[in-house]
Amino acid sequence: MIQTERVSSGIPGLDRLIEGGLPKGRSILVTGEPGTGKTIFSLQFLVEGLVRGEKGIYVAADEGTVDVLEQAASLGWDLEPYVERKELAILNAGTYLSSVGGAAKERQIDIHKAIGDLASFVNRLEAKRLVLDPAGPFVMLRDIATRIQDQTRLLIKLMRTSMPTTNLLTSYAVPRTGERGLHGIEEYLVAGAIVLEMIWQDGQLARSLIIEKMRCTDVKPAQYEFDIVKQQGIVLQTAR
Ligand SMILES: Nc1ncnc2c1ncn2[C@@H]1O[C@H](COP(=O)(O)OP(=O)(O)O)[C@@H](O)[C@H]1O
Ligand SMILES: [Mg+2]
Repeated sequence: MIQTERVSSGIPGLDRLIEGGLPKGRSILVTGEPGTGKTIFSLQFLVEGLVRGEKGIYVAADEGTVDVLEQAASLGWDLEPYVERKELAILNAGTYLSSVGGAAKERQIDIHKAIGDLASFVNRLEAKRLVLDPAGPFVMLRDIATRIQDQTRLLIKLMRTSMPTTNLLTSYAVPRTGERGLHGIEEYLVAGAIVLEMIWQDGQLARSLIIEKMRCTDVKPAQYEFDIVKQQGIVLQTAR
C-alpha cells in the first residue's frame, strides 16, 4: 500500500500534528504578513535537513546571503560551515529570473527556464529541501489574475516533475475575507498550507499557526500559539 513519506519540518510540536511531517517531495505553502515568522520557519526547515545530512537550497528574493546568515545566527544556527561545505546554497531569485527585464508591461518570466535552471542546480547539489522565500517573484506576471493562476499551477507542477526536493514556498498573507491577492499562491495547488498570524490573546498579541491544509493528513482544525526562541526557532505551544 502506498504511504505518504514524511519530512520533518524541524518545528517542535508541528510534526506531531501532521502525522510525522510534511509530505515528502511536495510543495508546502507558508503564508503570513511581514514579521509573522515565514523566514524563520523556512530556515528551521532547512536546518533540520542539514543536521540530518540533507542538503538544502534557500532562494531569497528580498535578502542577501549575509542577511540570511545573520538572521540564522541570531537564532543560534551557524549556517556558514554548511555553506562552505556546499551543503547549503543561499541564492538570489534574480539568478533564475534572468529573463525579467524590459518595460514593466512586458515583464514575463519564462517559468520553464527559471525552474529548469533551478532544477539542474538542485540535482547537481543533490538537495533534498528547497525554499523559495518568497515564491512570489517566480509567479510574477503583470497580467490578469487567471494568467497568474496558470503560472502558479505551472510552477508547482514543474517543481514536482523536475525536482525530488520537498519545497517550502512562502507568500504574503491574503485577507481571509476578501479577494485573493494577485500574488497569493492558490492554496488548492499545494500539498500543504500553513498560515502564520498575530492574534490577540488575553490583551496581548501572540504568534499563531494554523494548518489550513495537509494532503493525506488528518489535521484537526485548530490554531496553535507559538514562540520564537533562541537556539530553537519556532516552538509550538499546545492547541487552543
Ligand atoms: N533571534 C531572534 N530571537 C527571537 N525572535 C526573533 C529573532 N529573530 C527574529 N525574531 C522575531 O521573528 C520576527 C520575524 O520573523 P520572520 O521570519 O523574519 O518574519 P517574515 O519572514 O514572516 O517577515 C521578528 O519580527 C522577530 O520578532
Ligand atoms: Mg521573510
